Amino acid sequence: MTKPQIWVTAILILFIALFLLARLTKKDEVHKDFSGMNNMPMTEEPASEINGALLLKNFGCLNCHGADLEGSSMGPELTGLSEFWNRDRLINYLRNPNSFMDSGRFKEFKKIFPNMIMPAYGNKDVKDLGKIVDYLLGL
Ligand code: HEC
Repeated sequence: MTKPQIWVTAILILFIALFLLARLTKKDEVHKDFSGMNNMPMTEEPASEINGALLLKNFGCLNCHGADLEGSSMGPELTGLSEFWNRDRLINYLRNPNSFMDSGRFKEFKKIFPNMIMPAYGNKDVKDLGKIVDYLLGL
């Protein structure tokens, strides 16, 4: 190789190296952005709360449990549920309230609301019931 050829080759290699370096660092930034998003579950929370509240309204729960879930003559208040329920049990309850009727809690409810029964929501999407339950347990 002549001297100018060596120079041209050297400069070319330098450019390629710089180009690759730029690409690598750019990928790193993109990666950082994604991991940053995963560290922000807060963006998910409010949306699911709104949906839970909306679903309670759309499914007609408020008709019996009161507009503010404070209870009515047709159903008990739905606050402080986390003392008695966890997520899985409460979803199961909404799907099939009858299977819980033997517990003391529900014998009391039967006395207070003798003519009302809590409808079963087994035909609803479990994901929607999950949103409702997450909302209720957070109250
Ligand atoms: C027709 C009236 C009615 C409707 C509609 C209704 N409920 Fe109920 N719900 C009741 C009654 C009455 C009880 C008390 C248990 C019983 O007697 O069956 C109850 C009990 C409950 C309980 C247990 C409360 C506790 O303190 O353990 C939860 C949770 C609940 N309902 C959630 C819901 C949700 C969520 C919806 C809508 C998807 C809904 N209910 C719709 C009448 C209703």
